[in-house]
Amino acid sequence: MAVTVRTLVTGALLTVVAATKSLSDICTTSYARAALPDSSVLPGITIDPSSVETTLASNVSYSSDWYPTATIDYCNVIFAYSHNGVANDKVHVTYWLPSPSAFKNRYVSTGGGGLAIHSGTGYIPSGVIVGAVSGIMDGGFGSFNTNSDAVFLKSEGAHHELAVLGKQLARNVYQVASKQKVYSYYQGCSEGGREGWSQLQRYADQFDGAAIGAPAIRYGQQQVNHLAGNVIEQTLDYYPPSCELDEIAELMIAACDPLDGRTDSIVSRSDLCKLQFDMNSTISTAYSCEASGGGGGFPSRFRSRRSKNLRRQFPGSSSPTPAQNGTVTAEGVAVVQAFLDGLFDTKGRRVYLPWRYGITFADAATAYDSTTGTWSLSISGLGGEGVARFLELKNATTLDSLDGVTYDTLKEWMQLGMDRYYNVLQTTNTDISAFCKAGGKVLHVHGEQDNSIPPAASVRYYESVRKTLYPGLGFNQSVPKLDDFYRFYLPQTTLQIVIDWVEKGLAPDTLAATGDIETLCRWPLRPKWTAEGDLKCEYDQASIDSWVYDLDAWNVTIF
Ligand SMILES: *[C@@H]1O[C@H](CO)[C@@H](O)[C@H](O)[C@H]1NC(C)=O
Ligand SMILES: *[C@@H]1O[C@H](CO)[C@@H](O)[C@H](O)[C@H]1NC(C)=O
Ligand SMILES: *[C@@H]1O[C@H](CO)[C@@H](O)[C@H](O)[C@H]1NC(C)=O
Ligand SMILES: *[C@@H]1O[C@H](CO)[C@@H](O)[C@H](O)[C@H]1NC(C)=O
Ligand SMILES: *[C@@H]1O[C@H](CO)[C@@H](O)[C@H](O)[C@H]1NC(C)=O
Ligand SMILES: *[C@@H]1O[C@H](CO)[C@@H](O)[C@H](O)[C@H]1NC(C)=O
Repeated sequence: MAVTVRTLVTGALLTVVAATKSLSDICTTSYARAALPDSSVLPGITIDPSSVETTLASNVSYSSDWYPTATIDYCNVIFAYSHNGVANDKVHVTYWLPSPSAFKNRYVSTGGGGLAIHSGTGYIPSGVIVGAVSGIMDGGFGSFNTNSDAVFLKSEGAHHELAVLGKQLARNVYQVASKQKVYSYYQGCSEGGREGWSQLQRYADQFDGAAIGAPAIRYGQQQVNHLAGNVIEQTLDYYPPSCELDEIAELMIAACDPLDGRTDSIVSRSDLCKLQFDMNSTISTAYSCEASGGGGGFPSRFRSRRSKNLRRQFPGSSSPTPAQNGTVTAEGVAVVQAFLDGLFDTKGRRVYLPWRYGITFADAATAYDSTTGTWSLSISGLGGEGVARFLELKNATTLDSLDGVTYDTLKEWMQLGMDRYYNVLQTTNTDISAFCKAGGKVLHVHGEQDNSIPPAASVRYYESVRKTLYPGLGFNQSVPKLDDFYRFYLPQTTLQIVIDWVEKGLAPDTLAATGDIETLCRWPLRPKWTAEGDLKCEYDQASIDSWVYDLDAWNVTIF
């Protein structure tokens, strides 16, 4: 029984027909099997109909920074396919289908994070919430529980396959007429943001819209840069106690919070903070912290503060720390200052982009040795694994030590990363004119206080695209042109905003708050609140300049 209907009936009528079915009607293996895309949509693959599994989920609640909290019903469809002629090849895809009455002719692909190609249930609900079929895939490693470099390196092609199959599955399941449009979208953050850009750069008409957060592009530099804090500490031979780092961060955030015109525990103007805050003013301030068992992530000393952006900066676990008393030292400030200045080679040339003022110092975290009572190096997990696995090609999750590693070593590792993986992982192709021509819209956002992927990395990519597409034009001439299809902000957002832009032509000007996320301005404008509490988006050249860097340690162009 073929479910694909090719008739002359209008799309609107077909949608009514499909809507007469219930979610449980479409959530059977036989219905899903009959709705599988024909292999001709993706030459070179064979779908295994016997692999189809369906599970009905009712009344499940999801919440995240990336979509509004919602309770949804969906049908989870999983199937597998293989690439013809490739031995032992099996890729699994998962699609969540909304109820036929909730389906709005939309498809959404979602991406991974860290070293993973999918985020489990992290983003996939966002599609169902907006009436879309929503998909993830395992990248071809054979299981959704496995993530490895092998999977990860295949991700660009795998995402293309996920989207092609998902769009056709949506048409077939809901019997959408061939002349009726199924809008397609992408949503992902971090590694998933990088995966999203890889798709827009390569497959211009694959998505009508994309909501991309904090993309881990420029991979050669990005992963190795996680080790910069460690190497700064090793070079300056000072390993700040955790409480000292927290104290400096807290003093900086408290001083810089009001610079945007509003005291709300959020540093919305890291540029003004950088221009005005004197780090040396923290020297000799007394600090004190209770012992912490670790694991909780969020340091106890910050709990009393109404500190939304701080809380977002402590996602992972932390190691146990002892009770600490002391005063901020000149050595501690020197480490933090070098950390915020970013990575330079030993000749003083800039290697990579710095962090923004107002962050906490995750990549400068140190470890406490309770037997010696001293603080020492704590090698960054992502940085250590990135070098061990991708550059030294070891099956290892970190480096044993950083003995002998200098600023120049980090630059050499970045060069090796680019040499080896430029085509798959650098993801900085700046000529996205084909995506523009195909009518796509991309909303690119990056939290100003991101302490894992420098937000200046996103500014640099936006600026590189702007200069590639509109060479010789200043901001005021080129930004309005780029605004037609590519807008960049420095907070997070939801998929719904890009859907309204694509389907209703409602282009976002400022971004409205979602949950903890504040309304902010579109690059290159910067936010400033008036005494009356109104947001003004201002053009401030000195602030803009604080985001743009000359990476003069490189002779090749780093986009
Ligand atoms: C959905 O879940 C909520 C909370 O668990 C419950 O109160 C409600 O009755 C459920 N609704 C349905 C239709 O099952
Ligand atoms: C902070 O102190 C260091 C070390 O004494 C000094 O080199 C630096 O210039 C000072 N910074 C400012 C802004 O005064
Ligand atoms: C830190 O100082 C407080 C208050 O003076 C004191 O109660 C506490 O025992 C001290 N903790 C350590 C680890 O020295
Ligand atoms: C890599 O190491 C892990 C953990 O030690 C092990 O389970 C796995 O089999 C190893 N993989 C390969 C390809 O050697
Ligand atoms: C760009 O426009 C803003 C106002 O929108 C103005 O303040 C600024 O001076 C202009 N910059 C240039 C380089 O013309
Ligand atoms: C860049 O090229 C110049 C001239 O060829 C050379 O002198 C310099 O050492 C190169 N710099 C780097 C960082 O490779």
